[in-house]
Amino acid sequence: MKKITTDLLIEQAIVARKNSYSPYSKFKVGAALLSKSGNVFVGTNVESSSYGLTVCAERNAIASGIVAGEKEFESLVVISSEGVSPCGACRQVIYDICGNIDVILVNGEGKIINTITARELLPYPFSSNNLTTKNTKKI
Ligand code: THU
Repeated sequence: MKKITTDLLIEQAIVARKNSYSPYSKFKVGAALLSKSGNVFVGTNVESSSYGLTVCAERNAIASGIVAGEKEFESLVVISSEGVSPCGACRQVIYDICGNIDVILVNGEGKIINTITARELLPYPFSSNNLTTKNTKKI
């Protein structure tokens, strides 16, 4: 299996970011998600004129991995001008679907600003563990 380095993930996220559809915010984000099987899935932010329908780069990369049948993930690179952290909605989806992966935040020059775990990004998480029969049965 080909070894996918962080540098390669960053390169792919840079390419994805170039395709950002962000005419409203003009804020371009790219993401590259590495699966445990060694495949890379990219995403970019896709905005809507109905602003709330916008989908972030991270969630598009995760959806792409899921569509391809991947079940387990290793790390996620997110690139934006200043290397910002994922929004709250993405933190929930990253933790739900990818578990406690490394999230690598990269700035517009391709420099790593921070590496943080999904669990650190989402303290006191809501997760599938909370959807037990005990918690969901009719009262
Ligand atoms: N955005 C992302 O794609 N990922 C983030 O982590 C933060 C925000 C997008 C959503 C929107 O298109 C633009 O950046 C400004 O919020």
